[in-house]
Amino acid sequence: DGNYTVTLIEGDGIGPEISQSVKDIFAAAKTPIKWESVDVTPQLKDGRTVIPDKAIESVKTNFVALKGPLATPIGKGHVSLNLTLRRTFNLFANVRPCVSIAGYKTPYDNVDTVLIRENTEGEYSGIEHVVIDGVVQSIKLITRAASERVLRFAFQYAEDVGKRKVRVVHKATIMKMSDGLFLNIAREISKDFPKVEFDAELLDNACLKIVTDPTPYNDKVLVMPNLYGDILSDMCAGLIGGLGLTPSGNIGDECSIFEAVHGSAPDIAGKGLANPTALLLSSIMMLQHMELHEHADKIQKAIFDTLAEGKVRPLPVILRDDVLTLPVFDRRPGRQG
Ligand code: IPM
Ligand code: MN
Repeated sequence: DGNYTVTLIEGDGIGPEISQSVKDIFAAAKTPIKWESVDVTPQLKDGRTVIPDKAIESVKTNFVALKGPLATPIGKGHVSLNLTLRRTFNLFANVRPCVSIAGYKTPYDNVDTVLIRENTEGEYSGIEHVVIDGVVQSIKLITRAASERVLRFAFQYAEDVGKRKVRVVHKATIMKMSDGLFLNIAREISKDFPKVEFDAELLDNACLKIVTDPTPYNDKVLVMPNLYGDILSDMCAGLIGGLGLTPSGNIGDECSIFEAVHGSAPDIAGKGLANPTALLLSSIMMLQHMELHEHADKIQKAIFDTLAEGKVRPLPVILRDDVLTLPVFDRRPGRQG
């Protein structure tokens, strides 16, 4: 019927209401997407946290999913559902663009960089144990296979979106073996991409430099091991106004999940206060990934025009002269971030 089916994981807290914003705007823009909502409430199977078979089947069949925030437990208990999803579908590259939004005043006004985070291993390997009482080990796992595929992806991404350089962010001065391996593989792979420049920067230095002046990072794709990407992407989100404004895409060979990085904000859930921008921008990344560029451009323009007026709540939607207009009320920059 000319429609694409996409799996929708609405998520917890404000998840359902920000998902509704996406659905309304997609409908108004006549986007050829049919949503298939699935439940991902974790189940315990043989002592492991797994997501329901129905959800797995849905993502595997549709290849593409959009996901709202899922609450993450701290300390003991089941493994983060977010991580379970990334692992289940082998979503090896996490793409996190960080672009200034007109209408949100921050000390920086032209940030336009992108972080690519290895998404399956590093400190997120989940391998931890007590050595003896009072001594624990958490393993940072770095493999050639996972490093190669995310680095190759980063170079290809830079070439595709026209960024001049891929920069590896690392700490190989200290993590000599693990980051050293990552860095060496990057150097090897850079040879296959003669059009893209390559260099490297220490993580601490990158933090200092990017908050001093982000503009030198605008022509670069920053690629790094998992935990560095987790932290640096939040820091970069801070440059542009918070996690309520930054999209994210988890990319795999078989399927991809686009998600808002912010939390589920249970304190404001159901009050009509949630800012749907991050999920909306993630849904635009999703449309671009699906090569539905006309729809992506149209919705993106409507969102940016709306936000430029200093308003943040793109609801309800009015379609006028084939232009999407999103009347909004007040301004809550990335509250749920
Ligand atoms: C993110 C989040 C997740 C992470 C949490 C929710 C497990 O912070 O997507 O950045 O640590 O990767
Ligand atoms: Mn994070």
